[in-house]
Amino acid sequence: MDTKTTSPLPPARVLGIESSCDETAAAVIENGRGLISNTVASQIDLHAKYGGVFPEVASRQHIRTIYAIVDQALQQAHMTLSDMDAIAVTRGPGLAGSLVVGMNTAKGLALASGLPLVGVNHLEGHIYSSWVYPIDVPKEPPAPEFPLMALLVSGGHTELNLITDHLTYRRLGATLDDAAGEAFDKVARLLGLAYPGGPSIQKASAEGNPQAFTFPRARLEGTWDFSFSGLKTAVLRLVHQFEEKNQPLPVADLAASFQAAVVDVLVTKTIKAAETFKVKEILVAGGVSANKVLRETFLAQKGFQVHIHPLYLCTDNAAMIAAAGYYRFIKGQRDDLDLDVLPTWPLS
Ligand code: KG4
Ligand code: ZN
Repeated sequence: MDTKTTSPLPPARVLGIESSCDETAAAVIENGRGLISNTVASQIDLHAKYGGVFPEVASRQHIRTIYAIVDQALQQAHMTLSDMDAIAVTRGPGLAGSLVVGMNTAKGLALASGLPLVGVNHLEGHIYSSWVYPIDVPKEPPAPEFPLMALLVSGGHTELNLITDHLTYRRLGATLDDAAGEAFDKVARLLGLAYPGGPSIQKASAEGNPQAFTFPRARLEGTWDFSFSGLKTAVLRLVHQFEEKNQPLPVADLAASFQAAVVDVLVTKTIKAAETFKVKEILVAGGVSANKVLRETFLAQKGFQVHIHPLYLCTDNAAMIAAAGYYRFIKGQRDDLDLDVLPTWPLS
């Protein structure tokens, strides 16, 4: 298999492993960008009945699937560990019991193969999704250009980071309460929609009017922070009002109006930050970046080139861990086999 890319950086192939939450994933990446194989086993169906991720169930399921997933990633690549240069694994943040499964698997493989182990921050991984492209495309797409303004929007995080170079972040602001994805998940539950809430709200919104209800937008002027708890409470209050009057919930209108408020705040603040810090491009990453309205709104503005990855790279995957791992590997990072997981681990 010819897997050469034109990257001027040192060549290296990295096996990535991700198990921080409810996806068990492995991938092989060449030169930090070229995706050779990518396997993800989602546990969504297992957790749906609990209305959220059940940590104990998650770690047990990771144990059941992780070796098969790693095998599959190598098989799809038509490679073995001897074709790799390093093993990158998510070290944190995430659920401790879930992280440990990926970490121990990576350590076992590193020990058996003699390959170096590289621990990666999951948030950094989400950012590096923007460097990834399928290896078989005819031409390597341009990489994001620094300085970048990165909006990281996932189930656990919502933050703005100024990225001045590879692996160099300055966190400008973050959510003071709920993460955007968490707000989607909580509001979906209020509206009786299935877990995970983001895709459910997006689907319900398609039939709704985003202007039906005017929900608060916490602008938090003078800071780069976000807040979504007031918005969630406003939805809750309305839901109670409908229930008290014994009226059916206008789910589609509520979902669309909620989604519009979240997207408005995220896009407005990111563009303002991009202008203020005079960046070249914007990068949007994390599970919520799969949201259709968020994507369309970012792509519709003309001020900045926006990197917003294809859907299969938005939610948790190991391609992003292998990509970030590559940049850490070529910078010289080598972790010991007693590396601990970090359930809480800020990016900067
Ligand atoms: O990045 P991710 O897969 O896991 C974390 O690292 O948290 O993000 C999961 C979050 C969930 O809160 C989920 O509801 C949200 O991403 N999400 C979405 C969409 N798809 C996933 N939120 C809004 N619209 C979507 N289409
Ligand atoms: Zn994630």
